[in-house]
Amino acid sequence: MHAEFNQNIFHLYNDKISYMIGILSNGHLGHLYFGKRLYGEFDLQAFRVNQDRPLTAYVEKDLSLGLERLEYPNYGTTDFREPAIDLIFESGSHIVDFKYKSHRIYRGKDPIALPQTFDAELTLEIKLEDKKGLELLLSYSMFKGLDVISKHVKLTNHSDESIRINRLLSTSIDLPDGDLEFMQFSGDWARERHIYKTPLNPGIHSVYSKRGASSAHHNPSAFLVRPETREFSGEAIGMALIYSGNFLAQAEVDANDILRFQCGIHPDYFQWTLDSGQSFQTPEAILTYSSEGLNYLSHQFHNLFNKHLINKKWQNSQKPVLINNWEATYFDFDEEKLVTLASEAYKLGIELFVLDDGWFGLRNDDTTGLGDWFVNREKLKNGIKGVRDQIKDMGMKFGIWIEPEMANLETKLLSEHPDFLIGDPTRDRSPGRNQYVLDYSRQEVVDHIYNQLILVLDDCPVDYIKWDMNRNITEAYSVCLENNRQGELFHRYILGVYDLYERLTSRYQDTLFESCASGGGRFDPALLYYAPQAWTSDNTDAVERLKIQYGTSMIYPLQTMGSHVSEVPNHQNRRQTSLEMRTHVAYFGTFGYELDITKLSEDEKNQIKAHTAFFKKHRTLIHQGDFYRLMSPFDGNDSGWMVVKDDQVLACWYRVLSQSNPGPSRFKLKGLKEASKYKMNDKVFTGSYLMNHGILLKQAFTGIEYSGDPSGDFQSRLFYLEEV
Ligand code: GLA
Repeated sequence: MHAEFNQNIFHLYNDKISYMIGILSNGHLGHLYFGKRLYGEFDLQAFRVNQDRPLTAYVEKDLSLGLERLEYPNYGTTDFREPAIDLIFESGSHIVDFKYKSHRIYRGKDPIALPQTFDAELTLEIKLEDKKGLELLLSYSMFKGLDVISKHVKLTNHSDESIRINRLLSTSIDLPDGDLEFMQFSGDWARERHIYKTPLNPGIHSVYSKRGASSAHHNPSAFLVRPETREFSGEAIGMALIYSGNFLAQAEVDANDILRFQCGIHPDYFQWTLDSGQSFQTPEAILTYSSEGLNYLSHQFHNLFNKHLINKKWQNSQKPVLINNWEATYFDFDEEKLVTLASEAYKLGIELFVLDDGWFGLRNDDTTGLGDWFVNREKLKNGIKGVRDQIKDMGMKFGIWIEPEMANLETKLLSEHPDFLIGDPTRDRSPGRNQYVLDYSRQEVVDHIYNQLILVLDDCPVDYIKWDMNRNITEAYSVCLENNRQGELFHRYILGVYDLYERLTSRYQDTLFESCASGGGRFDPALLYYAPQAWTSDNTDAVERLKIQYGTSMIYPLQTMGSHVSEVPNHQNRRQTSLEMRTHVAYFGTFGYELDITKLSEDEKNQIKAHTAFFKKHRTLIHQGDFYRLMSPFDGNDSGWMVVKDDQVLACWYRVLSQSNPGPSRFKLKGLKEASKYKMNDKVFTGSYLMNHGILLKQAFTGIEYSGDPSGDFQSRLFYLEEV
């Protein structure tokens, strides 16, 4: 990993990738290159086309920024594409003109006051200045063994006037051609992070959130891929934003086929007043490049998040097999019911009992209670402590659900603090799931919730907390922000969320946090910094989960993906799948259960006992191994994936609908050693056979039943192999 500066060119590189920035003749930064490693000596002119075109304006002779590829484009000086920065001065002028001032290259990476990557190997920091007294610091970090560049930007106002920031993105790069497709991870509740690809044409294609949360609708990440790129071949660039609020990720192809790829805080409904002497820090963005397809790109994200984003305490920890009572009881429980569920679960090898929604306030349904973080003694006569103590005595861990950003109207909280909600007092507020959003841009609101929660948690320490968030922000207005600062609300809200996360995770360092937002509605890199696992989706149907987990795995590692076995018919879509298939899908995540375990047959309980034992034996392989997507559920009826770690392999093949008298299927593995031998049950195969020929799967319904295979729809086959 290196950072060099020669002939006005910065070159960040390792064995695989190069990222190059040039100082143009007027001092602006040009983006020269991001892609496969370039070798040799470079001259700025080799990266510039410099061709005169009609209707062009020039900042200098032979230099129009509109014809250049730029590194952090300004608004107002000859470039008409989407800028990375847009400011307003007191005069009303938007014109800025940031020029190179100095740079430094240093070991490591200085921390910022936001969720962030850590333990970088080196950082390049470039300082730019605008003559009106503004300073921009562009930071670029690289990590040992990873083909990743992380970027963030800090703007400081050294002038005497206040300026307003309309737009300050985390990254912007200009690529030399637009023959790329935009790949996004989008959906809604119960179908999060499905994969979509769109060819790019002149104009803009973007994904975004203006909901106050990163959202189930679009993940704060996007890839650019060649039309021919597949899982194991072709070029791809990945981008992800370490942020949980409103974001924009977009690609703009101009008339000359130059592609601008940007992301950052969404500029709509964002405006930040920067007084003299103040700074604004953007969230960090991640860029990665692969010449070997999507799977390689995902490995870069997985390794970065596993080693440089998730808190070190949890990076290699054994994630407990949990049972959550939500789908077993919903709001209808008491101490006895919970303890019975837990003791039955404990007998089957489950390690952590999670008490979901409904233990606090007057919470018997979703119309009341949120905001009152004291125990509901009508339901739990001895408090959560009574439940916890019995569960801990059995030898199980205990965790609870909270939704600290919300309130219902009929609560002690709102009767005492009616002004705590986000909303314009001169207008109606729109309820969502009968609840309203607390104004986390206000310190006293965050403090109030924190103080309530620590009373409960100090009295009854828990091993796990599921932090939920079940609606988005409407009528975005804070009674405590000045008129000209209302545009700060969305970002200040998220800073409030991070503040509470920071304080709770520091106070309860042994408590494992899982984030959740009506399922996977805020599954983003920033929350992984605090909560090493995230509830992937409320949809636990095994078939639907194939797509959700496959799409999620494009960016996020398996050890972050909450995945549970639930009952059938499934509560989200009424589908009936076998316990085996549900288990085989849930294995490829954090693994747990969400069903009434007391209602199961003895046979099912015995199966679960075997399943939890299997998972515990192999969870290090699953969570720390390299994940390979083998066949996409978006492409057809059959899909598959696998993990490899050292000499161990776990692979799973899935078929959604059965076929009559089909030919044999071949299941080709990846990531093995060609010449090594792998033992599967009592058979031995070479890595090259497994990867190039593939395992031959005999099918059900040929007249000769393959012993042990499930038949009918929704089949799965799990393969465990060990190198011998
Ligand atoms: C959300 C979550 C669920 C559950 C409920 C409780 O929908 O995604 O897992 O916790 O809230 O109200």
